[in-house]
Amino acid sequence: MYPPASDWALDMGRVVLLPGDGIGPEIMAEAEKVIAALGGDIAVQHGLVGGASIAAHGVPLTDETLAQARAADAVLLACVGGPRWTNVAYDKRPEAGLLRLRKDLDLFANLRPAIVFDALVDASTLKPDIVRGLDILIVRELTGGVYFGQPRGVETLPDGQRRGVNTHVYTSGEITRLGHVAFDLARKRRSKVTSCEKSNVMEAGLLWREEMAALHAAEYPDVTLEHMLADNCAMQLLRNPSQFDVIATDNLFGDMLSDEAAMLTGSLGMLPSASLGAPGAPGLYEPVHGSAPDIAGRGVANPCAMILSLAMALRYSLGLPEAADRVEAAVQGALDGARTPDIAADGIPVVSTAQMGDAVVARL
Ligand code: IPM
Ligand code: MG
Repeated sequence: MYPPASDWALDMGRVVLLPGDGIGPEIMAEAEKVIAALGGDIAVQHGLVGGASIAAHGVPLTDETLAQARAADAVLLACVGGPRWTNVAYDKRPEAGLLRLRKDLDLFANLRPAIVFDALVDASTLKPDIVRGLDILIVRELTGGVYFGQPRGVETLPDGQRRGVNTHVYTSGEITRLGHVAFDLARKRRSKVTSCEKSNVMEAGLLWREEMAALHAAEYPDVTLEHMLADNCAMQLLRNPSQFDVIATDNLFGDMLSDEAAMLTGSLGMLPSASLGAPGAPGLYEPVHGSAPDIAGRGVANPCAMILSLAMALRYSLGLPEAADRVEAAVQGALDGARTPDIAADGIPVVSTAQMGDAVVARL
């Protein structure tokens, strides 16, 4: 059904678009407009993931789509999931498609920036003085920990009780490769890494702390390394978020801390993310927000996080940093004259998803 990988034009950046579920198709359409407006250097293919793939093929990700993704330079994914699949087995849920893409493409480093745009300082639920200028990067381990650890499952005990098991497990190699990404990125920013775990209660957390400390001493003495317990980090993010530069943490803590950091900005609809593997492997780019089934199909979703995810793809996987700068500047500029309802502000017209995309394209 899809063109084979060899159909890609050789001299173009290759991007697979996976709109997924909920508001996904609406926001992906706007990213596609931006790709078109950038000119001819990017070839796109379309594919299905999540509930959309379940509907068409019975599984949340087909082998063909996985092969298509593997052959690309970048995968742009909007969002998956919805209430319809709540009572379905984990391996048949839309989320399983996303988890398989992450795992099978070995995308172990998830970069989640939390940036407060000047135009959106008042959108935060925190006081403007606390969040103004905020620029945090969470580097979340994405292919290990309790998300994938074995054993896992639910069993029935002899006494009739049920017992649910998940396993939080990390190897030193998994910790170190994530650490390299965090320290390397910190060097290009404000040179500080806060490593978060629960070494006070978990052996794997203590290993995390020891490996990060050893890597720091051996290769990154110029970067400041701070260790912080993950619960304290959750608190500090609200108390004084600008103390952070790069936060390096495991899969589960990274999931929670990145939602919290995103909310500091007051504009979940603005935040992109990148998931990267080994050099040369395709990157996966997605908004931090979910599929928002409550507003799907109404043309009110904010496409900016999707468009900014495209910008990250241009920068990290397609070798087009100038195009990335242009897209980011266009989004910033568009905010002056157009706002989707989630970031509405006095005196600025409230627009639809498509109009917001048009405003970005007009600025390019
Ligand atoms: C995220 C999401 C996913 C996760 C879900 C959809 C599986 O919450 O990307 O943060 O837990 O990793
Ligand atoms: Mg999450």
